[in-house]
Amino acid sequence: MKQQGVFRNPEDVSNVRSFEGLAAAVLDPEALAFINGGADDERTLAANVSAFERWGIRCRRLVDVSELDTRTELFGRNYMSPVFLAPVGFQTAYHPEGERAAARAAAATGSGMIASTVAGVSIGEIAAAFAETAGTASLSAPWFQLYTTPNRDTAFALVERAEAAGCPVLVLTTDVPVVGNREGQVEFVSRKIREGLGGVPNFGGLDTGAGLADPTLTWGVVAGLRERTSMKLVIKGIVTAEDAALCLEHGVDGIIVSNHGGRQEESDRATLECLPEVVEAVGGGTPVLFDGGVRRGTDVFKALALGAGAVCIGRPYVWGLAAFGRAGVERVVGILRRELATIMALAGTPDLGAITRDHIRRTGFAEPAP
Ligand code: FNR
Repeated sequence: MKQQGVFRNPEDVSNVRSFEGLAAAVLDPEALAFINGGADDERTLAANVSAFERWGIRCRRLVDVSELDTRTELFGRNYMSPVFLAPVGFQTAYHPEGERAAARAAAATGSGMIASTVAGVSIGEIAAAFAETAGTASLSAPWFQLYTTPNRDTAFALVERAEAAGCPVLVLTTDVPVVGNREGQVEFVSRKIREGLGGVPNFGGLDTGAGLADPTLTWGVVAGLRERTSMKLVIKGIVTAEDAALCLEHGVDGIIVSNHGGRQEESDRATLECLPEVVEAVGGGTPVLFDGGVRRGTDVFKALALGAGAVCIGRPYVWGLAAFGRAGVERVVGILRRELATIMALAGTPDLGAITRDHIRRTGFAEPAP
């Protein structure tokens, strides 16, 4: 890793996108391509970002916004903002402190964090770093993201480890029956995996011979997980109303609308486009989280207006991590929270509960009446 240049500290950086350039300046090109890349021609990746431009915010005036409250509650735990850190694997490849730094940043900012199965440090260490920073504050521990792997004994052992580490929520990632077609990144991934899943700390002592992607993952596994853990169960990777309905049938506690940041299927569907049908199918009661392409506080606002209960970011905080470690992640989260508070004030929505479907419309002018 090289030294970062122009900006000497994260406070000099005023928007999330600037962190991408800073990460590019410090990371090996191969690692950078792995973070930023997507499947096939990367149209889904691009669609995730550009979809936000097709929704406009309907700002209401003459509302008292002198007190702005970005706090949210999920599964009985309180968070300072609805911006969560999405699961991103192998973070020690981007900064020596890796997930420990991300966990400290999440704890310091009161943000939710979802730790990946393939994290560069074990879930126990991540939870310890989080707890150490959070102190006695009533902050939640990190959530754990599960790749089942085709070996169920391995999967259930991972779940036990996460539960023992104090994770309140298990996030089952469902969009990796096979690894997506990511040209130019294959080397990085296959080397990471060839170096041995056994070398990934969470897998220590477990059988990893079956590999990571799981073409055998079906709803039966969801039922099996329900029986084996008292953690809340959240399904990540849902993009259709049909699967949202099946989630409810299987009694899951939450859903994350996600297409893995455009890294798996090239569907040409942005996650923002998938969100309304999932929210409608769920019909309230079960939280629907969202990720994909969030780069501004206005993006967070739009996802919330379309019914998301919280919004996860992936690449943005990894750029911050690569550039400045923990302080970079804190700055990325802080910028998004500040931008969210600004648009909340401008739209006349003093707290998250005030943000409704009426605050958003598809952009474009309506046909004039004949
Ligand atoms: C990911 N993502 C991911 N998801 C998951 O469930 N487990 C994982 O280990 C990873 N690893 C991972 C690595 C990298 C480098 C990226 C960029 C993404 C997907 C991630 O959780 C999230 O869905 C997307 O990153 C959201 O899109 P944005 O915010 O990156 O646009």
